[in-house]
Amino acid sequence: MKASNPLTLSNMIFFAFALVFISTAQGQTCDKPQQASTLQVFHVNSPCSPFRSQNHVSWEESVLQMQSEDKSRLQYLSSLAVAKKSVVPIASGRGIIQSPTYVVRAMIGTPPQTFLMAVDTSSDAAWVPCSGCIGCPSSTFASEKSTSYKTLGCQAPQCKQVLNPTTCTAIACSFNTTYGGSTVAANLSQDSLKLALDVIPSYTFGCIQKTTGNSVPPQGLLGLGRGPLSLLSQTQSLYKSTFSYCLPSYKSPNFSGSLRLGPTAQPIRIKYTQLLKNPRRSSLYYVNLVAIKVGKKIVDIPASAFAFNPTTGAGTVFDSGTTFTRLVQSAYIPVRNEFRRRMGKTATVSSLGGFDTCYNVPITIPSITFMFSGMNVTLPQDNFLIHSSSGSTTCLAMAGAPDNVNSVLNVIASLQQQNHRVLFDVPNSRLGVARETCT
Ligand SMILES: *[C@@H]1O[C@H](CO)[C@@H](O)[C@H](O)[C@H]1NC(C)=O
Ligand SMILES: *[C@@H]1O[C@H](CO)[C@@H](O)[C@H](O)[C@H]1NC(C)=O
Ligand SMILES: *[C@@H]1O[C@H](CO)[C@@H](O)[C@H](O)[C@H]1NC(C)=O
Ligand SMILES: *[C@@H]1O[C@H](CO)[C@@H](O)[C@H](O)[C@H]1NC(C)=O
Repeated sequence: MKASNPLTLSNMIFFAFALVFISTAQGQTCDKPQQASTLQVFHVNSPCSPFRSQNHVSWEESVLQMQSEDKSRLQYLSSLAVAKKSVVPIASGRGIIQSPTYVVRAMIGTPPQTFLMAVDTSSDAAWVPCSGCIGCPSSTFASEKSTSYKTLGCQAPQCKQVLNPTTCTAIACSFNTTYGGSTVAANLSQDSLKLALDVIPSYTFGCIQKTTGNSVPPQGLLGLGRGPLSLLSQTQSLYKSTFSYCLPSYKSPNFSGSLRLGPTAQPIRIKYTQLLKNPRRSSLYYVNLVAIKVGKKIVDIPASAFAFNPTTGAGTVFDSGTTFTRLVQSAYIPVRNEFRRRMGKTATVSSLGGFDTCYNVPITIPSITFMFSGMNVTLPQDNFLIHSSSGSTTCLAMAGAPDNVNSVLNVIASLQQQNHRVLFDVPNSRLGVARETCT
């Protein structure tokens, strides 16, 4: 990325300068005119994002970094899939920032304060770091400056939806929770939330008072899960539990994608597969993956590798917060073996970090197809290969679950979803996918 920005996150209070900052990223339309119910989606490393790394890391380093973040993400999702109440502790590694990769602009309060909130399809929570927060990054929501802000007390019905509040008084409903490797202590609050041109009055969210670890996104989280208190649950009449997104490629810094909320303006020509619901973890979007093709060949994978099981959490989910698709070992190994077989014996396979199928010769496999029930999604090379910046190394951008993660979950991740429109149609229990260039 050539565009360099003179401002650093640490020397400013971000929200006050957000619009100035956003419109100065070079060659990028960071503030397209607002459209009804449609938000621009930025990759955290896009020139429009204040979160992108200021240090120039090598391609190898950034891949290793993304992989290790994914590993803890998988651990987190796996724990969600089987969690009853608490979430198993995550080994936090060495300073891993395990935040979701895409952000949207949201405005909170009266007058509005702007935040770039991370979108996470596998979470219900909406949180914002609030003024006075201990352990939050620099930009916080100044609730005292908003005339429409209020805290919810114990008697509020929303407080009853929060699992075990830690303090429950007439004026405060405080709760502790975990997100990835972080702990979060927050007060349940309400304020007006503006997304594109839509105003959602009295939106309920957690005002973060204290956090540890570094998994909490710096300017808050907008969970797109479908459980209680999620954005979907709170905007039933407006958005009817329907949204779609197009995630821009991390290689196209000049492109933003879009998050389209509600049933209007959704694609009509789109293929669907059934959405499955796991009552034990209502926020995850499970689908029924039945087979995988490498080129034209259907790989021989035992059906058990894909079987949906609400009790164990096994199955396949679409997730916006994991970068590279992760398959259980019994699915990944046959896929990778077929990939290697097609590349031929003369091509030398190498590994890079968690990727075990890398080459220094051109990849001759034109496509990989995920076969879901009722829907085949054929991915072009951009959706399953990752190339080094010098172009000499190319890896199959998928991996098996690491040995130390006891995962039964297959995760269709963001690199595999890039430049596709993915439509979540909860009322009709279906998920649609269509190719689209995210602009
Ligand atoms: C981004 O846009 C700028 C100006 O429009 C252009 O010069 C630059 O080449 C573009 N970068 C990429 C990666 O497309
Ligand atoms: C959050 O709740 C605690 C009680 O649990 C209270 O002491 C604190 O003042 C509240 N903070 C805000 C900003 O409302
Ligand atoms: C909740 O989190 C706060 C702040 O981290 C901590 O002081 C408190 O002990 C926690 N309460 C419970 C019940 O875990
Ligand atoms: C998906 O592909 C398989 C094999 O190529 C084919 O038999 C099946 O009919 C396709 N399914 C749909 C829904 O197009």
